[in-house]
Amino acid sequence: MRRLLPDPGPTTVAEQLEGFRPWEELHQDRPRVAMNFAATVDGRATIEGRSGPIGSDTDTEMLLGLRSRFDAVMIGAGTMRAELYGPLAKKQETRERRQRAGAQPEPLMVLISGRLDLPWEAPLFAAGGEVLIFTSSETEPPQTESQVEVVRHPGAVNLAEALRHLRERGIRALLCEGGPHLHEQLQADGLVDDLFLTIAPKLVGGEAPRILEGPLPGVIDLELAWLLEEDGELFARYRRRT
Ligand SMILES: NC(=O)c1ccc[n+]([C@@H]2O[C@H](COP(=O)([O-])OP(=O)(O)OC[C@H]3O[C@@H](n4cnc5c(N)ncnc54)[C@H](OP(=O)(O)O)[C@@H]3O)[C@@H](O)[C@H]2O)c1
Repeated sequence: MRRLLPDPGPTTVAEQLEGFRPWEELHQDRPRVAMNFAATVDGRATIEGRSGPIGSDTDTEMLLGLRSRFDAVMIGAGTMRAELYGPLAKKQETRERRQRAGAQPEPLMVLISGRLDLPWEAPLFAAGGEVLIFTSSETEPPQTESQVEVVRHPGAVNLAEALRHLRERGIRALLCEGGPHLHEQLQADGLVDDLFLTIAPKLVGGEAPRILEGPLPGVIDLELAWLLEEDGELFARYRRRT
């Protein structure tokens, strides 16, 4: 892998992420929030309904490396239904590395759901970990092996409020892995600090969603914080221009 910007030269995912310490730039009223997406050159965020076929193994390495830098990972219900998440830190080595750095062995998994219509059979709910769900539904979740906690927001989940709640329980930095509709709301509400975007050298066409779906109140200006390349795949980190 090579770094194109800034300071061109050889690098690795691990080396590049070593200097990225989101927990050091704290917000008082919410965690520091980064989004992570993979897209094709024609801007599509899925291939046959899933994100997995877009990126390479290096993209997966980047995603896993990013997770290791955050206290919590958040996704919307649409992403959970499509991707059927499992536990976030399976490897003992990863869990120990996190603990040595003063973090919990596994990031807290946070779900945002209107209807609480979730794939309860997914490995995430069988793994015995901790899952926090913000929902506007009044239904009760089923009993699962994982410890599921539900926080209810009548009508719709207020994302700024949800993030404040997470900050109050000690979450300093949160990685949001999508999807496109949750991304739109977080950007519209000014709640995103970093956007990690992998651009895979592929075209898919069709009607697949982009990384952000829905209206924004105006154009959001971003600045490019870094750009990496491997085998024609680009790994960009954007920051919101202030
Ligand atoms: N390429 C990538 O990097 C990437 C990343 C993530 C996802 N994806 C793809 O994106 C697709 C899913 O897209 P999506 O936009 O539907 O996913 P999404 O944003 O994860 O989920 C949307 C759902 O989240 C819930 N939600 C969002 N905001 C809410 C709020 N304020 N209050 C209450 N509920 C809220 C609603 O759930 P309910 O339906 O429960 O009401 C809504 O239908 C999948 O195909 C997935 O593979 C791609």
